[in-house]
Amino acid sequence: MYNQEQLRHISKQFQIYGELRHAELCKIGHINETYTATYDQGGTKVRYVHQKINQGVFRKPGQVMRNFVRVTRHIRQKLEQEGADQITRRVITLVPTLDDKSTYRDKNGDYWRSFVFVEGVQTYEAVETPRQAYQAAHAFGLFQQQLVDLPSPRLHETIPNFHNSRLRFQALTKAVEADDFGRTASARKEIEFALKQEKIVDVFLNAMKKGKIPERITHNDTKFNNVMLDNETGEAMCVVDLDTVMPGCALYDFGDMVRTTTSSTLEDELDLSKVQMRLPMFKQLARGYIDATSSFLTKAERSLIAFSGKLITYTIGIRFLTDYLSGDTYFRVHRPRHNLDRARTQFKLVESIERKEETMQKFVDSL
Ligand SMILES: Nc1ncnc2c1ncn2[C@@H]1O[C@H](COP(=O)(O)OP(=O)(O)O)[C@@H](O)[C@H]1O
Ligand SMILES: [Mg+2]
Repeated sequence: MYNQEQLRHISKQFQIYGELRHAELCKIGHINETYTATYDQGGTKVRYVHQKINQGVFRKPGQVMRNFVRVTRHIRQKLEQEGADQITRRVITLVPTLDDKSTYRDKNGDYWRSFVFVEGVQTYEAVETPRQAYQAAHAFGLFQQQLVDLPSPRLHETIPNFHNSRLRFQALTKAVEADDFGRTASARKEIEFALKQEKIVDVFLNAMKKGKIPERITHNDTKFNNVMLDNETGEAMCVVDLDTVMPGCALYDFGDMVRTTTSSTLEDELDLSKVQMRLPMFKQLARGYIDATSSFLTKAERSLIAFSGKLITYTIGIRFLTDYLSGDTYFRVHRPRHNLDRARTQFKLVESIERKEETMQKFVDSL
């Protein structure tokens, strides 16, 4: 963590016309280090965000920022053309450094960037109501819609093969064969389940390869705490966390929302009887997403909406399982078998989705 003195130094590197009063760590989000800084500017209180990029996850901060600048600029232009109000609450506004760069590199080699602080909004860790599910899905859908005509070149792949489920599957089979930690015996049922699902692994990859579904610009981290909701109206104002924005399949974003919001339980719930896909949540997710994306989403994409929840949940499940078998090197664990527990909840959710998949898709088709 950075202290006030260091933060003061960092804050001076950006084009901010105020005096720093204080800065505090923002506890939401686990990837970057985010500080909320309060300034006195012309006699009034103004806030900015200073954020340190996690270079452990994002090996090429330059590419991350080039994507970031193009994406936010494009959305801003769109909002201006539409005559939207409160544009600095509807898209993240990057504050340049004194020499007009998007980041400042400090003497530790850390990269810092600054944003206008979006006021009057709140972020929540978990979706609690169907209305919030609608808002979240609408916000991420709108984000895709705003970027559907981003001019070339293609965005950088900030994390290559992020959603390549075939590679994830191969990693699992390798980990099973190697059994480096002698854990396969304790995960026999889960491994069996995972391997039995192999037929679904290539569905999106093949559809994209054959041109049946197009490549689009996707957010890739559609957690609810990346949506800022207006305090007064509860409406989604804007999405944050744009580091993983890259070329992908539109349904990755939707599928991950199904995974993270339709079950009322945490990712590592031990009581599997509680892990269930709740249809009312799904319906509002689908409604919000379709309302925002109907202008561009193709028939083929629509037909895979229910399936996307199953595939993404399954893929995360096999990643947890692989990590368990490989000695817990990627996902942080807080107890023995933690990653195995996480894999189990994902697989339970996969089963639940599968049971309701037809009903889910019928609902989507009716929209
Ligand atoms: N411009 C902003 N205005 C207000 N709050 C912000 C802003 N940018 C980020 N935040 C807050 O900081 C949190 C973490 O930022 P985020 O970019 O999502 O980082 P992480 O990758 O660590 O999740 C967000 O969930 C949001 O609550
Ligand atoms: Mg975040």
